Amino acid sequence: MADLSSTQSVPSFDAIPKHLAIIMDGNGRWATQRFMPRIAGHSKGMDAVRKIVEACAEQGIRYLTLFAFSSENWRRPEEEVSILMRLFMTALQREVNKLHANNICLKVVGDLSRFDVALQEKIREAECKTANNSRLIVTICANYGGRWDVVQAMNKLLAAQPTISSIKEHDLAPYLAMAHAPEPDLFIRTGGEKRLSNFLLWQLAYTELYFTDTYWPDFGRTELKTAIHSYQKRERRFGRTSAQLLEP
Ligand code: IPE
Ligand code: IPE
Ligand code: MG
Repeated sequence: MADLSSTQSVPSFDAIPKHLAIIMDGNGRWATQRFMPRIAGHSKGMDAVRKIVEACAEQGIRYLTLFAFSSENWRRPEEEVSILMRLFMTALQREVNKLHANNICLKVVGDLSRFDVALQEKIREAECKTANNSRLIVTICANYGGRWDVVQAMNKLLAAQPTISSIKEHDLAPYLAMAHAPEPDLFIRTGGEKRLSNFLLWQLAYTELYFTDTYWPDFGRTELKTAIHSYQKRERRFGRTSAQLLEP
């Protein structure tokens, strides 16, 4: 069950982030730089996902959340979108058994209704198969948007409690797409851009942010360690003063 909200009480945290959330950006530029088609970057990006999942499990990270396709990525050329969908499908088919064998649970969140029925079915199968695994929970955000998330949660709440007249934070929280995880401790965006691009807007309220110019296909174990070191040097105050942190 998820921890309490960071805005309602001060959460506990460790040297190793319990929850890491990543915007995997820069696949296209990685490929273009090598005079390759953008899709070659996406395919190389899949290899990076595999490596980072392994590294997170080894490091003792419990939740890894990856932004794979945003609600705005439909604006890309049709060909790129359809190849991305195919890649997603192949990855699910290829990786699910390995994830399961390694006690890793897979979840996919976002508005999945816009995906092919066959893809939706594969997602459901993978989720069911790995549902009871507990070493690492990997959440893929697909056709996900932070604003979509808040609005869909609100609609679910209204459907469940049609007579509700005022809403508190804790009323909404169980309906958010990431209700199965505590709020992220560390956020990483690769690829050099310093923006959230409509990722977990609600959940990142007190997350430590880390940006690197490294393109996603080049992000590996060493880069992950560097990001965690940076995280370990941060002072997480959650609204308090530095002096208060030293009080018993
Ligand atoms: C991130 O890499 C992957 C997806 C958004 C699917 P990009 O495709 O955004 O790569 P750049 O930012 O164009 O280099
Ligand atoms: C964010 O990357 C979405 C994913 C990594 C899936 P984008 O490349 O789509 O972000 P913008 O368009 O540069 O903000
Ligand atoms: Mg990009």
